[in-house]
Amino acid sequence: MRRAVYPGSFDPITYGHIDIIDRALNLFDEVIVAVVRNPSKTPLFTLEERKEIIQKVLPGRDRLRVESFSGLLVDFVSANEATAIVKGLRVVSDFEFEFQMSLLNRQLDPRIDTVFLMTQDRFAFLSSSSVREIASLGGSVKQMVPELVEERLRDKFGFREQTRGQTVDRE
Ligand code: PNS
Repeated sequence: MRRAVYPGSFDPITYGHIDIIDRALNLFDEVIVAVVRNPSKTPLFTLEERKEIIQKVLPGRDRLRVESFSGLLVDFVSANEATAIVKGLRVVSDFEFEFQMSLLNRQLDPRIDTVFLMTQDRFAFLSSSSVREIASLGGSVKQMVPELVEERLRDKFGFREQTRGQTVDRE
């Protein structure tokens, strides 16, 4: 049984994350999406919202589990008897930080390896923070996130609809 953990803030989940999850499912018997309880910044979506959204946009993947964690990632990985951490890489600038994180995690627990998966080039520019910013300004994130996420973002930011860059405020 090869089990991997794919950790992140998922604030919110994007098509880039979903692409990495599906690639990880091709490589591992089981993948745990581990939603961090307290990201470095106050999240837009609560932990419960982030987990619920992930579960809803990833139906029918029976080898996938969605969990939350706090504390050290390596402790969560070993408590769940996983052997690998999966990380997505988009652009070269991701590498430096992720390389450092993987070395630190290896020092904390040498039994755990980090596996980097390259994103598809069409997702290379995509990040949750840009999705949040575009949505907060009333722009369309249709190509970037599933419909449910788009709806939840509209609810959060109070926009009812988006037409050619013109936003309509909720009454
Ligand atoms: O989606 P993000 O915000 O880039 O995810 C960051 C995450 C959750 C992977 C990272 O912050 C993390 O691993 N947090 C757990 C705390 C930890 O183990 N820190 C030591 C790693 S050097």
